[in-house]
Amino acid sequence: MTQLTDAGQKVFNARYALRDEQGHICETFEQAVSRLARVAASAEKEAQPHWEEKFASIIGDLLFVPSTPIWANMGKPDRPWQPSACFVLAVEDTLYSMYETLLSTALVFKSGGGVGYNFSTIRPRGSLVQSTKGKASGVVELIKLYNASSNMVMQGGVRRGASMGILNIDHPEIMNFIHAKLDGGLTNFNLSVGVTDAFMQALEQGEDWPLIFNGEVHDVLPAAVLWQSIVQSAHACGDPGIIFLDTIQKANPLPHKQLNCTNPCGEQPLFPGESCLLGSVNLARLIAEDGRINRALFKDTVSIAVRFLDNLIDVAEYPFPLIAEATRATRKIGLGFTGLADALIKAGLPYDSAEGRKYAGEIIELMQQSANDTSRALAEEKGCFPEWENSKFHPAEKIRNGTCVTIAPTGSVTTMAGCEGYGIEPIFAVAYKKSTNVAGDFEVFSPLFLEACQLYGVSNSILEEVARRGTCQGIKEIPVEIARIFKGAQDIAPADHILMQAEIQKHVDNAVSKTINLPGAATTEDIETCYRMAYSLGLKGITVFRDGCKEGTVTVGRQED
Ligand code: CDP
Repeated sequence: MTQLTDAGQKVFNARYALRDEQGHICETFEQAVSRLARVAASAEKEAQPHWEEKFASIIGDLLFVPSTPIWANMGKPDRPWQPSACFVLAVEDTLYSMYETLLSTALVFKSGGGVGYNFSTIRPRGSLVQSTKGKASGVVELIKLYNASSNMVMQGGVRRGASMGILNIDHPEIMNFIHAKLDGGLTNFNLSVGVTDAFMQALEQGEDWPLIFNGEVHDVLPAAVLWQSIVQSAHACGDPGIIFLDTIQKANPLPHKQLNCTNPCGEQPLFPGESCLLGSVNLARLIAEDGRINRALFKDTVSIAVRFLDNLIDVAEYPFPLIAEATRATRKIGLGFTGLADALIKAGLPYDSAEGRKYAGEIIELMQQSANDTSRALAEEKGCFPEWENSKFHPAEKIRNGTCVTIAPTGSVTTMAGCEGYGIEPIFAVAYKKSTNVAGDFEVFSPLFLEACQLYGVSNSILEEVARRGTCQGIKEIPVEIARIFKGAQDIAPADHILMQAEIQKHVDNAVSKTINLPGAATTEDIETCYRMAYSLGLKGITVFRDGCKEGTVTVGRQED
């Protein structure tokens, strides 16, 4: 059993530990590990103690970290056993459906998940409402309503509900949607425009683009005007991002059904009613000091983790029957990793180098192979997912899970696991100030950076300078061996962020959560270059963040400077 770091223990205590009736913590990390292992093993028909021990060993050693709802819910006497972090809900163009989905959302939030919606079914603002002869309020007003409701219902009692709103590029209210976050509202929503290959072609050829609802053309605009509006809004406030609908559809395990929506952070495309549970392998603990991956332990960890996640689908208590049905029909799981940055640093490879990408690509490829091998073996043992006969796998490949691999943001679990890099992100910065709900404000020096500085005898006054600037780049007293490896998100060129995302996406069944950081001085052209590059490299979606464009919780360098 591994000891949690102080920050890790804080996350565990605040979010995951069992509490008594007075709200006092009454569970240690070790006891929580046993709770999770026991509940997952209870899905086995045979050898329950064997599997319980296997599950406890990879989780207790922090080789594998299940995502927040699993820790916060599974096996607790006072919580629904709801393991999924990702949900998508349908919303139809009726008042009843809009409020029914809002209620469903509240129930999902309460159970600890986040929700994505594709609002393209909703009639645009100003359209006639037959029954009252009034004007429809439209998509953005509906998003405002849903956003306000997120403030009411805390997710699983611990955090605000996160949501994703998608609108397709041919919806007549698309301009209003593109501009919806410019005034700083809708803070509980990420927004993405659903873009098709046909639109990208129209853009390429300088054509006009019709905005259509229910077969009726409402307006026609040059594709370039829509595109520029997206880019300008993203430049000003970070939203909207883009999801590439045809790229997502190409990887859809059930090709006869349309897949046009993702969960809040974009890593998990899902059908309406479907949910997915997540877990991450902790690379920081699977990489030797020389940077080489322990392949045998890695494959073993992946295999046990896939079984663990698959088992939880059987013992889960979903918020309502539609979710249970849709989730169990495809049995999607989302196994990924965290701590890529830690691994690259140990391997001495820059994040923004061809070697760094090759290294990361090999790890994710190995993960996908091992996860799929396990899912195929599980199909032999326990059967394929119920929709298998309608899937792209039929008849050649028997498999238990509609998808296996997803790269999540891993916000809380990375802190609990004590690694530096979230998911596939580089380290945020070598020095920064962080404000959290849970642990208050604290100043952070990257521990791996400090370790390297000690090794090379970097003086305290130089470290002071690094803290002031928030970066070690361009400081001549910093040894080049350190400067080339310790690059924070802002030190890395946007194109290199995208190239890493693309390398990883090649071996990910679902999608990759990643922020493309740009400096404050970046232009709209820079954003446009990113969005075009994302499309041509086959990304399923992209989100950019220009430094200073949103009120963030993290500041590079010290705040008083
Ligand atoms: O690290 P943790 O397991 O807490 O979650 P994450 O990897 O940062 O986020 C995974 C997914 O959980 C997100 O994409 C959302 O679907 C959901 N989530 C949410 O609904 N609300 C949040 N505040 C954070 C995450």
